[in-house]
Amino acid sequence: MTRNTPDDATDDPIAGLLRRAGCVFAVEEAALLREHATGATELDQLVARRAAGEPVEHLVGCVRFGDLRLAVGPGVFVPRQRSLLLARTAIAATRARRSPAVLEAFCGVAPIAASVAAAVSDVDLHVVDADDTALDLARRNLPDGTGIHLGTGLDPLPRHRLFDVIAAVPPYVPDSAFDLLTSEARHHEPRSALLGGPDGLDHIKALVVAAQEWLAVGGELLIEMNTAQAEQVVRGGGPPHYESDVVVGDDGQTAVACFRRTR
Ligand SMILES: C[S@@+](CC[C@H](N)C(=O)[O-])C[C@H]1O[C@@H](n2cnc3c(N)ncnc32)[C@H](O)[C@@H]1O
Repeated sequence: MTRNTPDDATDDPIAGLLRRAGCVFAVEEAALLREHATGATELDQLVARRAAGEPVEHLVGCVRFGDLRLAVGPGVFVPRQRSLLLARTAIAATRARRSPAVLEAFCGVAPIAASVAAAVSDVDLHVVDADDTALDLARRNLPDGTGIHLGTGLDPLPRHRLFDVIAAVPPYVPDSAFDLLTSEARHHEPRSALLGGPDGLDHIKALVVAAQEWLAVGGELLIEMNTAQAEQVVRGGGPPHYESDVVVGDDGQTAVACFRRTR
Protein backbone atom coordinates (compact mmCIF):
# COMPACT_ATOMS: atom_id res chain seq x y z
CA MET A 1 0.00 0.00 0.00
CA THR A 2 1.08 3.59 -0.62
CA ARG A 3 1.08 5.92 2.35
CA ASN A 4 -1.70 8.46 1.69
CA THR A 5 -1.34 12.21 1.80
CA PRO A 6 -4.11 14.36 3.30
CA ASP A 7 -5.30 15.35 -0.21
CA ASP A 8 -5.78 11.74 -1.35
CA ALA A 9 -8.74 11.24 0.92
CA THR A 10 -10.72 14.40 0.37
CA ASP A 11 -13.12 13.12 -2.32
CA ASP A 12 -13.98 9.89 -0.56
CA PRO A 13 -15.97 10.27 2.67
CA ILE A 14 -14.96 6.88 4.04
CA ALA A 15 -11.28 7.47 3.29
CA GLY A 16 -11.61 10.91 4.88
CA LEU A 17 -13.16 9.44 8.02
CA LEU A 18 -10.44 6.79 8.24
CA ARG A 19 -7.73 9.35 7.69
CA ARG A 20 -9.10 11.53 10.48
CA ALA A 21 -9.04 8.43 12.69
CA GLY A 22 -5.32 8.09 11.99
CA CYS A 23 -5.22 5.44 9.24
CA VAL A 24 -2.21 6.23 7.04
CA PHE A 25 -3.45 4.00 4.18
CA ALA A 26 -6.96 5.43 4.30
CA VAL A 27 -7.72 5.31 0.56
CA GLU A 28 -6.65 1.66 0.13
CA GLU A 29 -8.38 0.63 3.33
CA ALA A 30 -11.64 2.31 2.29
CA ALA A 31 -11.50 0.35 -0.97
CA LEU A 32 -10.81 -2.91 0.90
CA LEU A 33 -13.71 -2.39 3.29
CA ARG A 34 -16.08 -1.57 0.40
CA GLU A 35 -14.97 -4.70 -1.42
CA HIS A 36 -15.52 -6.85 1.68
CA ALA A 37 -18.86 -5.45 2.94
CA THR A 38 -22.04 -7.16 1.72
CA GLY A 39 -24.15 -4.01 2.13
CA ALA A 40 -24.33 -0.48 3.47
CA THR A 41 -25.01 -1.52 7.07
CA GLU A 42 -22.05 -3.87 7.20
CA LEU A 43 -19.85 -1.25 5.55
CA ASP A 44 -20.81 1.30 8.24
CA GLN A 45 -19.98 -1.24 10.93
CA LEU A 46 -16.62 -2.13 9.40
CA VAL A 47 -15.66 1.52 8.98
CA ALA A 48 -16.61 2.23 12.60
CA ARG A 49 -14.56 -0.75 13.83
CA ARG A 50 -11.55 0.29 11.71
CA ALA A 51 -11.83 3.87 12.93
CA ALA A 52 -11.88 2.50 16.50
CA GLY A 53 -8.54 0.79 15.81
CA GLU A 54 -9.18 -2.81 14.70
CA PRO A 55 -6.60 -3.94 12.12
CA VAL A 56 -8.07 -3.83 8.62
CA GLU A 57 -6.69 -7.35 8.00
CA HIS A 58 -8.73 -8.73 10.91
CA LEU A 59 -11.84 -7.05 9.51
CA VAL A 60 -11.52 -8.30 5.94
CA GLY A 61 -10.03 -11.68 6.92
CA CYS A 62 -6.94 -11.61 4.72
CA VAL A 63 -3.55 -10.03 4.16
CA ARG A 64 -1.35 -9.73 1.08
CA PHE A 65 2.05 -11.37 1.53
CA GLY A 66 4.13 -11.10 -1.63
CA ASP A 67 2.04 -12.74 -4.35
CA LEU A 68 -0.11 -14.58 -1.81
CA ARG A 69 -3.38 -13.63 -0.16
CA LEU A 70 -3.39 -15.28 3.27
CA ALA A 71 -6.32 -15.90 5.61
CA VAL A 72 -6.05 -14.06 8.95
CA GLY A 73 -8.60 -13.27 11.61
CA PRO A 74 -9.30 -11.56 14.92
CA GLY A 75 -6.97 -12.43 17.77
CA VAL A 76 -4.01 -13.60 15.70
CA PHE A 77 -0.73 -12.01 14.61
CA VAL A 78 -0.92 -10.43 11.14
CA PRO A 79 2.10 -11.35 8.95
CA ARG A 80 4.35 -8.34 8.33
CA GLN A 81 5.76 -7.36 4.93
CA ARG A 82 9.27 -7.36 6.44
CA SER A 83 9.00 -11.16 6.78
CA LEU A 84 9.23 -11.47 2.98
CA LEU A 85 13.01 -11.40 3.61
CA LEU A 86 12.75 -14.61 5.63
CA ALA A 87 10.36 -16.11 3.06
CA ARG A 88 12.86 -15.47 0.24
CA THR A 89 15.75 -16.82 2.33
CA ALA A 90 13.76 -19.96 3.19
CA ILE A 91 12.78 -20.51 -0.46
CA ALA A 92 16.44 -20.30 -1.56
CA ALA A 93 17.52 -22.72 1.21
CA THR A 94 14.72 -25.14 0.26
CA ARG A 95 15.65 -25.07 -3.44
CA ALA A 96 19.22 -26.01 -2.52
CA ARG A 97 18.11 -29.33 -1.02
CA ARG A 98 16.88 -32.52 -2.65
CA SER A 99 13.46 -33.82 -1.43
CA PRO A 100 13.40 -31.12 1.23
CA ALA A 101 11.60 -31.29 4.54
CA VAL A 102 10.72 -27.80 5.78
CA LEU A 103 9.36 -26.59 9.09
CA GLU A 104 7.93 -23.19 9.97
CA ALA A 105 8.13 -22.90 13.77
CA PHE A 106 6.13 -20.21 15.62
CA CYS A 107 4.11 -20.23 12.39
CA GLY A 108 1.00 -18.19 13.22
CA VAL A 109 -1.03 -18.26 9.99
CA ALA A 110 2.08 -19.75 8.28
CA PRO A 111 3.25 -17.09 5.79
CA ILE A 112 6.72 -18.62 5.39
CA ALA A 113 5.48 -22.18 4.88
CA ALA A 114 2.81 -20.95 2.44
CA SER A 115 5.46 -19.00 0.48
CA VAL A 116 7.74 -22.06 0.30
CA ALA A 117 4.82 -24.24 -0.83
CA ALA A 118 3.93 -21.75 -3.57
CA ALA A 119 7.51 -21.54 -4.86
CA VAL A 120 8.87 -25.10 -4.56
CA SER A 121 7.14 -28.37 -5.41
CA ASP A 122 7.42 -31.68 -3.56
CA VAL A 123 8.25 -30.21 -0.16
CA ASP A 124 7.45 -32.21 2.96
CA LEU A 125 5.99 -29.28 4.87
CA HIS A 126 5.32 -28.93 8.61
CA VAL A 127 4.24 -26.05 10.85
CA VAL A 128 3.99 -25.65 14.61
CA ASP A 129 2.44 -23.03 16.89
CA ALA A 130 0.99 -22.83 20.39
CA ASP A 131 -2.20 -21.05 19.26
CA ASP A 132 -4.99 -23.21 17.82
CA THR A 133 -6.85 -20.19 16.36
CA ALA A 134 -3.75 -19.32 14.32
CA LEU A 135 -3.37 -22.95 13.23
CA ASP A 136 -7.01 -23.09 12.02
CA LEU A 137 -6.17 -20.16 9.73
CA ALA A 138 -2.79 -21.67 8.78
CA ARG A 139 -4.62 -24.79 7.59
CA ARG A 140 -6.49 -22.62 5.07
CA ASN A 141 -3.21 -21.13 3.80
CA LEU A 142 -1.34 -24.41 3.34
CA PRO A 143 -1.56 -27.32 0.93
CA ASP A 144 -3.34 -30.51 1.94
CA GLY A 145 -0.91 -32.92 3.53
CA THR A 146 0.99 -30.29 5.53
CA GLY A 147 1.84 -31.53 9.02
CA ILE A 148 0.14 -29.10 11.43
CA HIS A 149 1.32 -29.43 15.03
CA LEU A 150 -0.15 -27.67 18.08
CA GLY A 151 2.10 -27.05 21.07
CA THR A 152 5.00 -25.04 22.48
CA GLY A 153 8.37 -24.67 20.81
CA LEU A 154 9.27 -27.79 18.82
CA ASP A 155 7.81 -30.17 21.44
CA PRO A 156 4.84 -31.46 19.40
CA LEU A 157 6.95 -32.54 16.39
CA PRO A 158 7.09 -36.22 15.57
CA ARG A 159 10.21 -37.81 17.10
CA HIS A 160 13.21 -38.70 14.88
CA ARG A 161 12.07 -36.27 12.16
CA LEU A 162 14.89 -34.24 10.52
CA PHE A 163 14.32 -31.01 8.60
CA ASP A 164 16.41 -29.42 5.86
CA VAL A 165 15.08 -25.95 6.62
CA ILE A 166 13.60 -24.61 9.85
CA ALA A 167 12.32 -21.03 9.52
CA ALA A 168 10.75 -18.96 12.26
CA VAL A 169 9.49 -15.54 13.27
CA PRO A 170 9.36 -16.06 17.04
CA PRO A 171 8.04 -13.26 19.26
CA TYR A 172 11.11 -11.00 19.53
CA VAL A 173 9.97 -7.62 20.86
CA PRO A 174 11.68 -6.85 24.21
CA ASP A 175 9.06 -6.69 26.97
CA SER A 176 10.02 -3.07 27.75
CA ALA A 177 9.28 -2.02 24.12
CA PHE A 178 5.61 -3.08 24.25
CA ASP A 179 4.40 0.52 24.53
CA LEU A 180 6.28 1.43 21.35
CA LEU A 181 4.22 -1.00 19.25
CA THR A 182 1.32 0.22 17.11
CA SER A 183 -2.05 0.50 18.78
CA GLU A 184 -3.32 -2.28 16.46
CA ALA A 185 -0.65 -4.66 17.75
CA ARG A 186 -1.05 -3.70 21.42
CA HIS A 187 -4.82 -4.02 21.47
CA HIS A 188 -5.60 -6.67 18.86
CA GLU A 189 -2.71 -9.15 18.68
CA PRO A 190 -1.86 -11.54 21.53
CA ARG A 191 1.02 -10.41 23.74
CA SER A 192 2.29 -13.97 23.54
CA ALA A 193 2.77 -13.50 19.78
CA LEU A 194 4.80 -10.32 20.26
CA LEU A 195 6.98 -10.32 23.37
CA GLY A 196 10.19 -12.27 23.79
CA GLY A 197 11.37 -11.45 27.31
CA PRO A 198 13.74 -8.76 28.67
CA ASP A 199 15.93 -8.57 25.53
CA GLY A 200 13.40 -10.17 23.15
CA LEU A 201 15.61 -13.24 22.75
CA ASP A 202 13.99 -15.81 25.08
CA HIS A 203 12.22 -17.78 22.32
CA ILE A 204 15.07 -17.30 19.84
CA LYS A 205 17.74 -18.70 22.18
CA ALA A 206 15.50 -21.63 23.12
CA LEU A 207 14.85 -22.36 19.43
CA VAL A 208 18.57 -22.36 18.56
CA VAL A 209 19.13 -24.98 21.27
CA ALA A 210 16.04 -27.09 20.48
CA ALA A 211 16.58 -27.08 16.71
CA GLN A 212 19.83 -29.06 17.06
CA GLU A 213 17.72 -32.15 17.56
CA TRP A 214 15.69 -31.57 14.39
CA LEU A 215 18.08 -30.18 11.77
CA ALA A 216 19.64 -32.46 9.11
CA VAL A 217 23.36 -32.16 8.33
CA GLY A 218 23.69 -29.30 5.82
CA GLY A 219 20.29 -27.99 6.90
CA GLU A 220 19.59 -24.37 7.81
CA LEU A 221 17.88 -22.73 10.76
CA LEU A 222 16.63 -19.27 9.69
CA ILE A 223 15.25 -16.89 12.31
CA GLU A 224 13.86 -13.38 11.79
CA MET A 225 14.70 -10.76 14.40
CA ASN A 226 15.94 -7.18 14.39
CA THR A 227 19.43 -6.48 13.09
CA ALA A 228 21.01 -5.66 16.47
CA GLN A 229 19.57 -8.85 17.95
CA ALA A 230 20.85 -10.93 15.01
CA GLU A 231 24.36 -9.54 15.34
CA GLN A 232 24.29 -10.27 19.07
CA VAL A 233 22.96 -13.82 18.61
CA VAL A 234 25.43 -14.70 15.85
CA ARG A 235 28.36 -13.05 17.69
CA GLY A 236 27.51 -15.27 20.66
CA GLY A 237 28.29 -18.24 18.37
CA GLY A 238 25.87 -20.97 17.36
CA PRO A 239 25.94 -24.51 18.68
CA PRO A 240 29.03 -26.67 17.95
CA HIS A 241 29.28 -27.69 14.27
CA TYR A 242 27.17 -24.77 13.05
CA GLU A 243 28.19 -21.91 10.72
CA SER A 244 26.29 -18.68 11.24
CA ASP A 245 25.60 -15.56 9.24
CA VAL A 246 23.26 -12.55 9.22
CA VAL A 247 21.20 -11.42 6.21
CA VAL A 248 20.01 -7.81 6.61
CA GLY A 249 16.91 -6.54 4.79
CA ASP A 250 16.68 -3.37 2.69
CA ASP A 251 15.10 -1.55 5.63
CA GLY A 252 18.34 -2.08 7.59
CA GLN A 253 16.28 -3.10 10.61
CA THR A 254 15.00 -6.57 9.80
CA ALA A 255 17.46 -9.43 9.71
CA VAL A 256 17.56 -13.18 9.36
CA ALA A 257 20.06 -15.05 11.53
CA CYS A 258 21.16 -18.14 9.58
CA PHE A 259 22.66 -21.21 11.24
CA ARG A 260 23.88 -24.05 8.99
CA ARG A 261 24.66 -27.44 10.45
CA THR A 262 28.00 -28.61 9.04
CA ARG A 263 28.05 -32.13 10.52
C1 LIG B 1 5.49 -13.03 15.81
S1 LIG B 1 4.26 -14.26 15.57
C2 LIG B 1 4.79 -14.87 13.99
C3 LIG B 1 3.76 -15.68 13.26
C4 LIG B 1 4.11 -15.96 11.79
N1 LIG B 1 5.38 -16.64 11.67
C5 LIG B 1 4.13 -14.69 11.00
O1 LIG B 1 5.20 -14.18 10.63
O2 LIG B 1 3.04 -14.17 10.73
C6 LIG B 1 4.79 -15.46 16.72
C7 LIG B 1 3.94 -16.73 16.82
O3 LIG B 1 4.54 -17.55 17.84
C8 LIG B 1 3.52 -18.22 18.55
N2 LIG B 1 4.07 -18.58 19.86
C9 LIG B 1 4.31 -17.77 20.92
N3 LIG B 1 4.89 -18.47 21.91
C10 LIG B 1 5.01 -19.73 21.45
C11 LIG B 1 5.58 -20.91 22.00
N4 LIG B 1 6.11 -20.94 23.24
N5 LIG B 1 5.55 -22.04 21.27
C12 LIG B 1 5.02 -22.05 20.02
N6 LIG B 1 4.47 -20.95 19.44
C13 LIG B 1 4.49 -19.80 20.14
C14 LIG B 1 2.36 -17.25 18.59
O4 LIG B 1 1.14 -17.94 18.77
C15 LIG B 1 2.49 -16.56 17.23
O5 LIG B 1 1.66 -17.19 16.28
